[in-house]
Amino acid sequence: MAERAFAPDTPQLRAEWSNFTWDAPRAKAAADILTRYPAGRQMSASIPFLDLAQRQVGEMTGTHGWLPIPVIEFVARELGMPPVKAMEVASFYTMFNLVPVGRFHVQVCGTTPCMLRGSDDVLAACFKRGLKKGKTTADGLFTLTEVECLGACANAPMVQINDDNYEDLTEERMAAILDALAEGRTPRPGPQVDRTTSCPTGGPTTLKKMAERNYDYRGQW
Ligand code: FES
Repeated sequence: MAERAFAPDTPQLRAEWSNFTWDAPRAKAAADILTRYPAGRQMSASIPFLDLAQRQVGEMTGTHGWLPIPVIEFVARELGMPPVKAMEVASFYTMFNLVPVGRFHVQVCGTTPCMLRGSDDVLAACFKRGLKKGKTTADGLFTLTEVECLGACANAPMVQINDDNYEDLTEERMAAILDALAEGRTPRPGPQVDRTTSCPTGGPTTLKKMAERNYDYRGQW
């Protein structure tokens, strides 16, 4: 699990981010989000609000976004909650970046199923391209983080890069994905072999008629 700590609360950080406020599209999105929760329960919007704020910071910095402490405090003010509670949420979920990241945040799953299926090879492809765990490359393109299970174990090993998953990886496939991103191309997300979502490679192997229609097998039991 990657070490997680807030970026130091310095005068420079305060000078840069203390005036953060929603831009027009986010102000509308924030108002829409609040309608999902009953009056007095605005705190329930802390995760979508932090996500919104991180995406806006991403747009402002040309990166995948992160959460400076003054931005977290802004979210807490918007929701009428103590800043420390918003910081607790931000520091608990690895979807929130507590320090600046690059344009592409490469999150390699290192939990057991991915580890057994080759996450070391995926990391090797990252290392060969100059990525280092917990660091951003000098060109500002990639930040590498090792994370725990991202819920796509059936297609292990996998990574999440920004909002997309890339699955069924090998060292070569991971290298090709990083190359494509560096060249400004968009690699195809999801399974990297011939399968739909987490179906068997090459198509169904059992209950094949279900692939054509909602077939009722019960008469054969
Ligand atoms: S163990 Fe890697 S996605 Fe679950």
